[in-house]
Amino acid sequence: MTDDRRQTTDGNDAIRIVFVGHVDHGKSTLVGRLLADTDSVEPARIKNVEAICAERRMKFEYAFLLDALEEEQDQGITIDVSQVIFKSKKRQYRIIDAPGHKEFLKNMISGASTADIAILLIDAEEGLREQSKRHATILSLLGIKTILIVVNKMDLVDYNQKVFENIRSEYGKHLASLKITPKAFIPLAAYFGENLVKKSQKMPWYSGKSFLEILDDLETPHSSEDKPLRFPLQDVYKFDKQRILAGRVESGVMSVGDEIVFLPSRKTGRVRSIEKWHAPVETKASAGESIGLVLEEQIFVERGEIACPLSKEASVSNSVLANIFWMGNKHLEKGAKCVLKLTTQEIECVVDSILKVINSSTLDEISKTAREVAKNEVAEVILVTKKPVVFDPFEEITETGRFVLVEDRQVRGGGILLKSVERFSAI
Ligand code: GTP
Ligand code: MG
Repeated sequence: MTDDRRQTTDGNDAIRIVFVGHVDHGKSTLVGRLLADTDSVEPARIKNVEAICAERRMKFEYAFLLDALEEEQDQGITIDVSQVIFKSKKRQYRIIDAPGHKEFLKNMISGASTADIAILLIDAEEGLREQSKRHATILSLLGIKTILIVVNKMDLVDYNQKVFENIRSEYGKHLASLKITPKAFIPLAAYFGENLVKKSQKMPWYSGKSFLEILDDLETPHSSEDKPLRFPLQDVYKFDKQRILAGRVESGVMSVGDEIVFLPSRKTGRVRSIEKWHAPVETKASAGESIGLVLEEQIFVERGEIACPLSKEASVSNSVLANIFWMGNKHLEKGAKCVLKLTTQEIECVVDSILKVINSSTLDEISKTAREVAKNEVAEVILVTKKPVVFDPFEEITETGRFVLVEDRQVRGGGILLKSVERFSAI
């Protein structure tokens, strides 16, 4: 491996954390202030933002450390997802700052679809808003289980405990109906750094730790090494006569000597060596690690295939039951064609049936006999794929159970796969 590769893949093994929530509730500010308070930004960059804000006669905006697009700074909103690598004293994170505006929901979903941990922000003064609820629905659909709730802008409500408790109770109910149990609710004032890196003196009634302490204490979502191995193939590199199979171990452990099967081709091989970007040669790799794999045999496998242990293979099917979130302007109808992207697979599919449609912010069922799914609705559907899709029911392995739907190269929906179904059977 060249040094270039090492640099470009830096942060690949970092824990991926996404910030979501209603527009203006303070996501970019929290991330910007976090970088500033931990000396993670170049002083020149802070000076640059100071100059931009002074020129515009406005207060210093930490969000500008991330919202680099001129249009974003003009409108004071995030449009596209931005990513930064952040190193705390304990570990490395890849922070994904997603936009809150509903027009940019698809950017939020594409940012969230790969996250290990999600942070949901709520403005203490404004309280719960449409996107606060909708984003929670999307996170639950994407199978993101490690969630922290931040009640931000506590300064605007005089750091009042009651405001915080009311939001905690109301939002807690909504989350419970989605079967989400947040790891913590944290009262915070991102702009002023209160409860962000250090515990705040302004909220003595709060007995928990600061945001960063709680984040660092969270169990690594990839510590579940007890799950079966899933290694989706990203690329195949040829060095001399050797073929190096590159990808990220999404679950389980791979060890030298293991016999593995690639699905759907069913080609098998024995692991000869495992290379990591920052280390020479290892004898094993665990979930969350990006590796290059060399097999004893020179087999021809392609991007999109998933390596599994012979004893615990993933499901392979042409017809799957899925829960989806739709955000295309055009309604999704029975018979519609899309591309299903799951790990590194990209497969054409057709909506075979629409079984149930739900409003994503109120969670009310719209109709049992709906024929189409409108923007921002959630639905249970059967998708029929052109080539077999390799997956796991999302309840078993999240990483290989979630997907996005792409139409005209745009992400128009996302969701989770529940199980394989007989195509024309009644469910
Ligand atoms: P989008 O990305 O557009 O959805 O917004 P966002 O959630 O990233 O919000 P952003 O960080 O851009 O902050 C919106 C406004 O709220 C900015 O003017 C911030 O300075 C302000 N703000 C953020 N956090 C706080 C806070 O703790 N207290 C106060 N008073 N203002 C805050
Ligand atoms: Mg923002």
